[in-house]
Amino acid sequence: MLPHEFDTATSALAANGWCVIPDLMTSTQTQALANECMAMHAEHLLTPAATGIDRAITILRGDSTRWFLSGALSAPQQAFADRVDELRIALSRHLMLGLVDSESQYAVYPAGAGYARHLDQLRRSDARVVSAVFYLNADWQDVEGGALRLYLADASHRDIYPRAGTLVLFLSAQFEHEVLPATRQRMSIACWMRQRVIPAIH
Ligand code: OGA
Ligand code: MN
Repeated sequence: MLPHEFDTATSALAANGWCVIPDLMTSTQTQALANECMAMHAEHLLTPAATGIDRAITILRGDSTRWFLSGALSAPQQAFADRVDELRIALSRHLMLGLVDSESQYAVYPAGAGYARHLDQLRRSDARVVSAVFYLNADWQDVEGGALRLYLADASHRDIYPRAGTLVLFLSAQFEHEVLPATRQRMSIACWMRQRVIPAIH
């Protein structure tokens, strides 16, 4: 088989259940996504993850989010969706995962906000198989905090800092993770690659 752009990522995901891809998008494309996310946030188009009767959830997570609307993607979003599709198809083929589609959302954490330790796949039947988080923060310094802390099976953890252009992938059902608070606003695209879920027969 010819070598493929995502071979390294595919092997790492197969071996460890998680990996980092540093060059999914060009810096111009990443900058365009960051600009759009910032503009949408300024226009109050992102919704706090904690609203209404779920206010208690503020303790859990402090971000605001906005889904990418399939069929109505902006040019920067379309460029991202195209790359995620290429990656999804490569992972699906090489790891035999049956990833049929993906869903993406912008997420903005104000300074001081985080997301407590959690699992992205809540039930065995969940469609989410691979979690992917793409970061949009130019000139991020480690001292600013905001790491994604990924808890590994051996009880150790890895901290991944949300530097613009970094994509982290991990298996949704296996890795608990949390977002540590930062001293500045933190922007990302959270994306889930999904399998087809066969509805239970009642
Ligand atoms: C999530 C999440 C991680 C991050 O949205 O479920 O865990 O680094 N995000 O933003
Ligand atoms: Mn998560």
